[in-house]
Amino acid sequence: MNLKDHIRGVPDFPKPGILFYDISTLLRNADAWQVAMGRLASVVRAYQPDVLAGVESRGFLLAAPLALKLGCGFVMLRKRGKLPGATIGLDYDLEYGTDRIEIQADAVKPGQRVVVVDDLLATGGTMSAGISLLKHAQADVVAAIALIELTFLQGRGRLDVPFEALVQYD
Ligand code: PRP
Ligand code: MG
Repeated sequence: MNLKDHIRGVPDFPKPGILFYDISTLLRNADAWQVAMGRLASVVRAYQPDVLAGVESRGFLLAAPLALKLGCGFVMLRKRGKLPGATIGLDYDLEYGTDRIEIQADAVKPGQRVVVVDDLLATGGTMSAGISLLKHAQADVVAAIALIELTFLQGRGRLDVPFEALVQYD
């Protein structure tokens, strides 16, 4: 199966000139979602993670079922102010302005092997911030995984851990 047949490109979203790669069409097709999860599981399993970290919000849709499938724990990398209790966070730059990503301070144990999972790698800013934050929490970040990579933005060059994606657009 070619997963690209199930990923819809939506022109001019969220703003003019941007082609948005939408996984909604893949998730609503049981066979396509199953195939994508199977392929992601094979890629992620090789890194022998203890925990998968999903990036809010679309990353959760892949990371949580993947963690169940692999018998791993699941932790949330969330946007500002969403997590209860003690948190640690990191501000990162967007095209316009900044954003903040947070995890619970006790989300990972020192040395735990963590794979970060998101739906899509664009500039790599979000993934890079997630990796830095997990390292700050003393995790052993062994890989970063996405379903989709926008290769023309060269986001993987910003990451200091192995990165793999199932489909590429250039
Ligand atoms: C999108 C996408 C990635 C991120 C990639 O999330 O799901 O998380 O942007 O962009 P980057 O590589 O340039 O950082 P978005 O912030 O739109 O939020 P969502 O997942 O909640 O829809
Ligand atoms: Mg996202």
